[in-house]
Amino acid sequence: MDIKQRIDELKRIINEANHDYHTLDNPKISDYEYDRLLSELNKLEEQYPEYKTSDSPTNKIGGAVLDAFEKVQHEYKMMSLSNVFNEEELRSFYERIEKEVTGFSVISELKIDGLAVNIKYVDGVFVQASTRGDGITGENITENVRTIKSLPLVLSEKVSITVRGEIFMPHRSFNKLNEKRLENDEPLFANPRNAAAGTIRQLDSKIVSSRGLDLFVYTLVEPDQKITSQEEALKYLQHLGFKVNPHYKTHQTITSLIEQIKIYDGMRRTLPYDIDGVVIKVNEFKYHDRIGETVKFPKWATAYKFEAEKQETELIDITFQIGRTGVVTPVAELKPVFVSGSTISRATLHNEDYIKEKDIRIKDFVWIHKAGEIIPEVLNVNLDKRTNQKPFKMIETCPVCGEKLIRKEGEADHFCVNLDCPGRNINQMVHFASRGAMDIEGLGEKVIYTLHEFGFLNQISDIYNLHKNQDELMTIPGFGEKKVQKLLEAIERSKDMPLDRVLFGLGIKHVGAKVSKMLVKQFETIENLMNATYEDLMAIHEIGEMIALSVVEYFHNEANKRHIEYLRELGLKMAFSKQEVVEHELNNKTVVLTGKLENYSRDQAASILESLGAKMSSSVSSKTDLVIAGSDAGSKLKKARDLGIKVIDENEFMKLVNNET
Ligand code: IVH
Repeated sequence: MDIKQRIDELKRIINEANHDYHTLDNPKISDYEYDRLLSELNKLEEQYPEYKTSDSPTNKIGGAVLDAFEKVQHEYKMMSLSNVFNEEELRSFYERIEKEVTGFSVISELKIDGLAVNIKYVDGVFVQASTRGDGITGENITENVRTIKSLPLVLSEKVSITVRGEIFMPHRSFNKLNEKRLENDEPLFANPRNAAAGTIRQLDSKIVSSRGLDLFVYTLVEPDQKITSQEEALKYLQHLGFKVNPHYKTHQTITSLIEQIKIYDGMRRTLPYDIDGVVIKVNEFKYHDRIGETVKFPKWATAYKFEAEKQETELIDITFQIGRTGVVTPVAELKPVFVSGSTISRATLHNEDYIKEKDIRIKDFVWIHKAGEIIPEVLNVNLDKRTNQKPFKMIETCPVCGEKLIRKEGEADHFCVNLDCPGRNINQMVHFASRGAMDIEGLGEKVIYTLHEFGFLNQISDIYNLHKNQDELMTIPGFGEKKVQKLLEAIERSKDMPLDRVLFGLGIKHVGAKVSKMLVKQFETIENLMNATYEDLMAIHEIGEMIALSVVEYFHNEANKRHIEYLRELGLKMAFSKQEVVEHELNNKTVVLTGKLENYSRDQAASILESLGAKMSSSVSSKTDLVIAGSDAGSKLKKARDLGIKVIDENEFMKLVNNET
């Protein structure tokens, strides 16, 4: 077999395996075998770039980075759907159709809560994907859609067709993404739909590839004469290799349709993705033209929208929570109720204005729901049940330290500005020690609370003085010699954390992990950053007014400056040495970490490597320069060996980072 034949064979086998795994949920080859084939294909394509084609499964990992999305003119207008919200409205939709045609059936499908996409194939090969946009012009998102694992790059027949479907983010991907964002102190996505929309607008397709989007296809645009109904179209789409949602049904009567909608509504909470209703379409295509359309939507289809789930419960009390930046948030303490899959007993009330606007009072009965099905929120008050509840009054002093709260003009939040406030400082320490920041193992929330209670921890700098109290620490219940020893070692190790982690750990408002990295890259030392003016900060492309103001304000504060000076004396890194990075042999090298390391957490190892200029990657490919393999390293190690990539163990890693090689 010649090279080209082998490449074609590999593409075919891997595309099929992708389809078995991601579309049919029925893998036929092992992950190991899959990795092996993919790495063979990768290698061959690298050696013979002339044979690399756009339909190759190696493109699924992304790579293309765009400056902007091009506009795409839709050949056929992308319409949207009219809505019905109850049985009555549904019946009148049905009756209107009965007036136009007889002998029709309707098909019910799940209304997937994501974003519509238009996808083109030429001779059975994927060529273009675009967003709906305004229905006439959309944006070209071909490179991003290409990374969606269940999208067939090649169809089972060499047809030139256009299809439409819904890009969505399954709950699993959504939860994983938000967990990661929480760790990095990045704003969370409110719901899977927003997350999917935000992801598809990423210019870097690698990011898209990593976020686990998925796709259901439901429309065949301008079908062939042979296909006469939506039901046949769905079957044909499935035959071509598309992922078609299995929950659809045809109905001869409205009674059967209504029954089915109830079944779908009941299923809703157990599906691994969000749906917001049921789409009802006249099944037979021959009737569509006769029934017609308005400017915006077809009259032969509609969307039955589910009601967002809400529950009534008693608001037992309003308490106050203090965050690490000193912001004081009112919280509703509720009589526990079950809403959208979980029991809720607390919900944020955001701020004073929110409560006043809705006139929420203690002992009221309130309606609650989950915003974006995730975050519990008080919707409104059931005024029928109001008796003699008193209007809410915002507290004036900090619930923890008693300092007078400040509400700045134009802002909705109240702040405790007492730098010694224990409530605020405990949260600061929790953040400082957390994985995304200084990653101090063993110094979690519980331990910090206990050490605070016993008087050892009041502020961040106390962490680095704990070793002076080693003997006393061992007298705290639950703190044995070993535990204390380990904790102190972890604290000592954290002194090696690079400046961007220190900066992130300080918890400056609006300065998350990414912004910290950017600031350190730009200013290199804490002094430079302290001296930076608002204009200096604004000159950085990614930094806006909010961040710039917050940074300037933070470093204007004398107490903050003293605190930082003290942290430097205690041994924390306050400068980033470019010299070191440039000279280090890992600079600009792509490194993969796999398996378990004894002396470092993965995050620690990754940030050490990054501080030396290495680029971290989560998967091994021919572009990988080095793999660091801890214990129990699995398929990545194997793949590295197959690809002939340099592999080192933890000992060698330690030598390498210390420049001892
Ligand atoms: S058919 C003429 N089927 O809902 C419109 N749409 O509110 C044809 N959607 O823009 C759309 N699931 O993004 C159709 N099974 C389904 C759907 C579905 C979700 C979305 C789609 C559409 C929006 C209309």
